[in-house]
Amino acid sequence: MAQERGQFSSKLGFILAAAGSAVGLGNLVAFPVMASKNGGAAFLIIYLFFIAFICYPVMMAEIAMGRRTTRNPVGAFSELSGGQLIWRLAGMLAILTPFMIAVFYTVITVWLVVYIKEIFGGNLDVLSRPGNFNEVVARPSLFGYLIALLGVMFFILLGGVKGGIERLARVLMPTLAVMLLLLVGFVLTLDNAGTGVTYYLVPDFSRINLATINGALSQAFFSLSLGMGILITYGSYFSREDNIADSTRMVAIADTAIAFSAGLLILPAIFAFDPNTNTDDLSTSSVGLIFDFLPQIFLSMQDTVGYGGASFVAIVFFTLVFFAALTSMVSIIEIPIACWIDELGMTRKKAVMLQAILLTIFAVPATMSLGISDFFTNFTSYGGVTKSFFDLVSDVFYETILPFVGFTVCIFCAYKWKVSGLKEELVIGDDKYSGSLTERYINLSLGTVIPIVLLVVFLSTVNQVYLG
Ligand code: PHE
Repeated sequence: MAQERGQFSSKLGFILAAAGSAVGLGNLVAFPVMASKNGGAAFLIIYLFFIAFICYPVMMAEIAMGRRTTRNPVGAFSELSGGQLIWRLAGMLAILTPFMIAVFYTVITVWLVVYIKEIFGGNLDVLSRPGNFNEVVARPSLFGYLIALLGVMFFILLGGVKGGIERLARVLMPTLAVMLLLLVGFVLTLDNAGTGVTYYLVPDFSRINLATINGALSQAFFSLSLGMGILITYGSYFSREDNIADSTRMVAIADTAIAFSAGLLILPAIFAFDPNTNTDDLSTSSVGLIFDFLPQIFLSMQDTVGYGGASFVAIVFFTLVFFAALTSMVSIIEIPIACWIDELGMTRKKAVMLQAILLTIFAVPATMSLGISDFFTNFTSYGGVTKSFFDLVSDVFYETILPFVGFTVCIFCAYKWKVSGLKEELVIGDDKYSGSLTERYINLSLGTVIPIVLLVVFLSTVNQVYLG
């Protein structure tokens, strides 16, 4: 069994793979929208505060759990608790969560592929017509793309940690950064872009309220891929010679820098499109923004750069988002695979095959949730709203559960494994950790302030989403 486990080739390999997981739709779309609606730089300041004081310690704890046990989340919780059922269940939740997130993330990634193909075919104008998104997501041809995409994903995952996940991140992450910078540079030259920049970077504290603060924390959690078992699993592939605190900091900085740059892309683009944009009207959902609104914005650039130029910019943008989604998807599908390898004693090949079958079984109804099938489109209702199968999965596993998984990680590390156990792992490869400010902060807050904040955010989300 042991020889099945991979390892990242270096600290850089780990950082790129973890950043590949962290950088996704959350950074490129959700963050700019949230920042614009919630006071620009004022939101950014709160967000940074959460990244540093809540997320960073939880990230380190997740990675340490993985590296100590060299196991997947179920194995890690189980081994460190001496097999206690309640903690095994916590581990299972940290497998179920990425499993289900993969379901709706796959569907969104399929839409991205369709959009890229359509723009290549000269159809940017068609895509930017109002209501076109609803037509695209109800096409039966989506299944063809779904199968092709899953084929590519699982082929990459067959390559394992070094040859699959790390290799993909090594190619795509630098490409993504360059594409993003080029797009930012281009958008900043457009007329009226300055209004968007001002809007983004001048703090407006009057927009901050409790809901914004909740939103900032959930967003930070989602963006860093916390509470999804990902960092536990990636920690299990992390070498004992390397330093957890430094690597974690690099991942957090890279992720935040990309989110920040995406703000510099999206907001100026929106204001260049319409200088009188009222940001309250921007869609709350990242999906709505990318697929409904952005094609219009790209199309509007044809006055400056022609239709071909506008289509080119749109292709670069959608490809960028697609790359970000691909590296995130690979990371999230790896979690159950690692679990099947460790816990069921499977070879990687068998585990990948099992996961391919399971994911397909769930991804098909999720694909049918936006009009293809009535049953899955009007699947259930809560909080006073009819919800599709896709909505249900995304509400539960994306909007709600992450802070709760984070909460279990904190309580586990503080009271079961104990901060002394955690420290034993964190000092490995890091001779500066002992006695550092970080250590003192973690010892003080991992069992107190941090889990309390996470629990409060979890409960208020449950209240808001399910009880209306
Ligand atoms: N951090 C990712 C993002 O910002 C979230 C994610 C990771 C989603 C992995 C799915 C899979 O989009």
